[in-house]
Amino acid sequence: MRAVVFEQFGEQAEVRDVPDPHPAPHGVTVRVEATGLCRSDWHGWQGHDPDITLPHVPGHELAGVVEAAGAGVSNWRPGDRVTVPFVCACGSCAACAAGDQQVCERQTQPGFTHWGSFAQYVALDHADVNLVAVPEEMSFATAASLGCRFATAFRAVVQQGRVAAGEWVAVHGCGGVGLSAVMIAAASGARVVAVDVSPQALELARKFGATECVDASSTPDTAAAVLALTGGGAHLSLDALGSPTTCAASVNGLRRRGRHIQVGLLPSTSGTTPVPMARAIALELELLGSHGMAAHTYPPMLELVRAGVLRPDLLVTSTIGLDAVPAALTALGTAPGAGVTVIEPWS
Ligand SMILES: NC(=O)c1ccc[n+]([C@@H]2O[C@H](COP(=O)([O-])OP(=O)(O)OC[C@H]3O[C@@H](n4cnc5c(N)ncnc54)[C@H](O)[C@@H]3O)[C@@H](O)[C@H]2O)c1
Ligand SMILES: [Zn+2]
Ligand SMILES: [Zn+2]
Repeated sequence: MRAVVFEQFGEQAEVRDVPDPHPAPHGVTVRVEATGLCRSDWHGWQGHDPDITLPHVPGHELAGVVEAAGAGVSNWRPGDRVTVPFVCACGSCAACAAGDQQVCERQTQPGFTHWGSFAQYVALDHADVNLVAVPEEMSFATAASLGCRFATAFRAVVQQGRVAAGEWVAVHGCGGVGLSAVMIAAASGARVVAVDVSPQALELARKFGATECVDASSTPDTAAAVLALTGGGAHLSLDALGSPTTCAASVNGLRRRGRHIQVGLLPSTSGTTPVPMARAIALELELLGSHGMAAHTYPPMLELVRAGVLRPDLLVTSTIGLDAVPAALTALGTAPGAGVTVIEPWS
């Protein structure tokens, strides 16, 4: 098969022929029809992920068709249209038994713990636990755009954040995760304040339902701006970038008994992140993390997409072939790409 491969971290990847993957007894191989390009792929290529061994094929936001299934797979067969969360669970640890596959103790992640989906085929483990059926009427590009970013935002806003109609939601950082969060919160009937340093990101946030925007490049205290715009603070606030600044701003922009959800990964290079805990005590704040989303919780999200209430397809701003991936991966380092790029490996 054709795949995007890199031999060294940070050195230009190339497209070449590699052996086709084989399914594990509990796994499947999927013919990749569409796969999203995410900033985490760039981090992986840069060597920021200790799970990656070389040579490596990135890619973790995918949709396609089951090509072959291992003997131990009961629920899936060749020809099924599927997608998968980026956290693939084992199905048998204590977290999985409790229904919390998104924090599985023995998780695998395509494109990180093994070769991913910037290829014509990808192997996925524990298929019965992790595959999600893609409805006939949903395109593969739309299914791939649920990817890690949209599904993660859905869990952060709806499942962890427990958003309610009429609430104020603040979203700090409006890239793929943040714009998805804006769309999901607005569709839930919340009023959304979007915060970003990029005017283009804020313009998209407004398009996807933000009623207020804060330009962090010209606003020194974004938390104060959120407190003012929301008449006392957000009910729910997300750090959808991952930095000490946005984490603190998210917590400081909450009202009494508000909920902060940490979604953006905090780079280990910045050490431990100070969190305004005095405010958490005095205002009885909830501070939660959010990590991916379990496959068995996809149906309500898919139903909202089917009904047209959520439009992840609108986040897709470009579609490219495998040959264009090495350059696109490199460009992620310098350009804060607005929207989602989808790769079609067979085009
Ligand atoms: N928890 C999870 O399960 C999970 C899943 C997917 C991604 N992530 C993480 O979420 C984060 C966001 O991912 P993404 O793909 O949306 O990233 P992205 O780079 O596309 O978006 C980040 C946005 O933050 C903005 N920004 C930069 N500095 C800012 C500041 N000071 N204040 C406000 N905004 C600022 C940028 O302009 C950009 O629009 C990353 O850390 C990613 O690794 C976490
Ligand atoms: Zn598990
Ligand atoms: Zn991702």
